[in-house]
Amino acid sequence: MNQVIDQLSSRKSIRQFTGDSVKTEDLELIIKTAQRCPTSINGQQISLVYTKDKEKIKQIAELCGGQEQVATADVFIAIVVDFNRTIFAVEQAGEKHVIERSAEGVLVGAVDAGIMLNAIQVSAESLGYGTTAIGAIRNEPEAMIKLLGLPPKTFPIVGTTIGVSTKDAKDASRYLSDKARWPK
Ligand SMILES: Cc1cc2nc3c(=O)[nH]c(=O)nc-3n(C[C@H](O)[C@H](O)[C@H](O)COP(=O)(O)O)c2cc1C
Repeated sequence: MNQVIDQLSSRKSIRQFTGDSVKTEDLELIIKTAQRCPTSINGQQISLVYTKDKEKIKQIAELCGGQEQVATADVFIAIVVDFNRTIFAVEQAGEKHVIERSAEGVLVGAVDAGIMLNAIQVSAESLGYGTTAIGAIRNEPEAMIKLLGLPPKTFPIVGTTIGVSTKDAKDASRYLSDKARWPK
């Protein structure tokens, strides 16, 4: 067993936070590791939009169906499929940008976003924080796009909370992972 395997084996969504802050240097590290993720045809069609603004996080939580664990997180990161950025490169090459209108665009965006979500969560958890993926970011897409101030040809596909886990939430996750490993 190494540390990575141990961490991945004991991971769990954390929905109870102490209200303590995620350190700025930790958030920078988390985002830096996410930027190292592979992307389909190296298109880099994912942008990250993060906020620590408590009022904005509360509004995000409301749009996600009133999820309390979102409202009480210290950081929210929206993972955005960003074909606004790719259009510049495609048009410079004299081509027509059509991927955002195709099923291929949806698939590329979803796969790349999932890879990045995982990197963000694994990095955050390795630094001792708790996270939960938030698919409900798509509940009210137009309102979410407006709240995040996103340009055309972008879509917030999934998000994640980051915060300092309460002891109870952490212990519960450890208990589950110990149980899962117990037969070995
Ligand atoms: C793409 C995705 C979207 C999710 N959306 C939400 C969500 O909106 N709210 C939430 O509380 N949990 C959400 N989850 C977390 C799942 O409910 C959770 O991973 C699952 O129940 C398994 O629990 P575990 O993560 O503790 O192992 C999401 C997970 C994924 C992968």
